[in-house]
Amino acid sequence: MAIILDGKKLRDKILDDLKNKVAVLAGTPKLVVISVGDDAASKIYVNNKKKYAEKIGIAAEIVEYPQSVSQEVLLKEIAILNNDPKVTAILVQLPLPEHIDKLEILTAIAPGKDVDGFTPYNSGLLFSGAKPYAYPATPRGILRLLDEYNIELDGKHVVVVGRSNIVGKPLAQMMLNRNATVTVCHSHTKNLADITKTADILVSAAGGKIIEDNMIKSNCVVVDVGIFRDEQGKLRGDVNFETVSKIASHITPVPGGVGPMTIASLMLNIVDLFENSGKS
Ligand code: GUN
Repeated sequence: MAIILDGKKLRDKILDDLKNKVAVLAGTPKLVVISVGDDAASKIYVNNKKKYAEKIGIAAEIVEYPQSVSQEVLLKEIAILNNDPKVTAILVQLPLPEHIDKLEILTAIAPGKDVDGFTPYNSGLLFSGAKPYAYPATPRGILRLLDEYNIELDGKHVVVVGRSNIVGKPLAQMMLNRNATVTVCHSHTKNLADITKTADILVSAAGGKIIEDNMIKSNCVVVDVGIFRDEQGKLRGDVNFETVSKIASHITPVPGGVGPMTIASLMLNIVDLFENSGKS
């Protein structure tokens, strides 16, 4: 049976440490989340972000807009937040409606307040091998979790399934920066199992792609970024936990693995941005 990579336990430890740190900061970090439309999953994520921020002494506000909001209104809101010295972290919850130009919206966020690290400026720094103001939260959380369990990345073959801007692409780059050999697979990849079977560390962030035990080599480390409700209403990920956990060396559960680490990393990012504010 694989060792469970316990994201919940590590999240709680990180949040405890952060709470102590925030209490002695010279000022209060403030997160503003822009939430558009009424996607049920997004609402849960956004409320969770606010709840955990407030738990550790960070001010948090959710600014809600209807699905029909215009590009101009969102850009104006971001400009106001960029210029508000009390606001130290800005997050635009994704996905945005189809009629919104997402890249233009993300580009408008001041890099020093870009808590997701999604602006082209910050992703450009990451892909240049430099330090961005913030690293995307899910990849940061995954690396932190692997480090906690002393899982070596140097020279390892990491296979990432999924090429999103939120997880797959930045994670691949962060793994490269840690000297892993990285393969990124996606919906057009042929013979996926032939590639996943060569992974020392397999990260599935494809959304619903089922990773079965015959797709991994034994003693592989398996990280499951997927989360959805099955027909029985049970939360599950991309990986068949029951079978894969029998042959993997380590595995993240769903829930309780990557999700809590994303929250912890977001909080770390908020504090990092606050500590760096005014330095540039
Ligand atoms: N939607 C799904 N994951 C994320 C995330 O990490 N940040 C934002 N802003 N939106 C998301």
